Amino acid sequence: MEEQKRTILSGIQPSNSLHLGNYLGAVRNWREMQQEYRCFYMMVDLHAITVTQDPETLRESSYLGIASYIAAGLDPENSVLFLQSHVSAHAELAWIFNCTSYMGELSRMTQFKDKSAKQGKNIPVGLFTYPNLMAADILLYQPHYVPVGNDQKQHVEHTRNLAERINNRYQKDIFKIPEPFIGKQGARVMDLQNPTSKMSKSVENPKGAVFLTDTDKQIMKKVKSAVTDSGSEVKTYDEASPGLRNLIDINSALSNRSHEEVANEFSGKMYGHLKVATAELVVETLAPIREKMNQLLNDKAYLNKILKTGAESAQIVAQKTLNQVYDATGFIPKVP
Ligand code: TRP
Repeated sequence: MEEQKRTILSGIQPSNSLHLGNYLGAVRNWREMQQEYRCFYMMVDLHAITVTQDPETLRESSYLGIASYIAAGLDPENSVLFLQSHVSAHAELAWIFNCTSYMGELSRMTQFKDKSAKQGKNIPVGLFTYPNLMAADILLYQPHYVPVGNDQKQHVEHTRNLAERINNRYQKDIFKIPEPFIGKQGARVMDLQNPTSKMSKSVENPKGAVFLTDTDKQIMKKVKSAVTDSGSEVKTYDEASPGLRNLIDINSALSNRSHEEVANEFSGKMYGHLKVATAELVVETLAPIREKMNQLLNDKAYLNKILKTGAESAQIVAQKTLNQVYDATGFIPKVP
């Protein structure tokens, strides 16, 4: 039976704490998928160093990330939870892909263009080859689906291209060709201060994101001071400005109601009502997760044990794929 479950895989970077957008857009859905799929969920720490990281902060963020996965309901008994750097096959397959991908296609990646433009000069090569590492993350586990946000669709497309390129080159089905699995509408949470961009972990404007580590008071304050518009009364969802729509979206995701239902409830009321009700929903949802997360963080021995088990399970699957690639490439197998 177990064998028949289809496989999914995804990951989040351990920079800073996870935020409401990661929870509603990703982890909450991943939790639901655990019943139906065989799941690999990782913290992509190798990806995090495409920008310079303070070592101690990176270590803490990685623990924080794994603790938030578990606190949010990812079950280490059921899913493989692991750290990318614990499975060396990721870096090894990424090298193969560095030799398989073209400068041209990597230059066309929207995220690279955005991030390198922001960086200005001294752009790390890792930022450029990042999609190859992501392709390795994915293809090692032969997943059917990769749940990602819209912004990562292009990277999954690149992953599929590399998989097909290798399969064709060696005339062998080495890699399964994965499909992106784009989350339900409404799960995309925008920055509270700048509602036309996605909620992000960057610390530039911490008021724009609700972090899983925020206190109830901080959450209330952030949601209540969300940017809306110069109007005052809630109208329909379609007429709502991006900021208002974001609040309606968050409310609807947390209360499992449609946008219309939420907009109707607040129609004709002042924005403040929607803000307070939404802030309370966020607090209600995140408070138990935060408590559980803090408990877990006080037990590093337990977290280390989870990471060890996860890495061992991941390693078995990853190594099998890597061996096939090495063999097809013409590397002599190591004598056991
Ligand atoms: N690049 C993804 C992001 O920034 C994170 C990521 C890395 C990922 N490797 C992955 C997501 C593999 C899905 C599968 O969001």
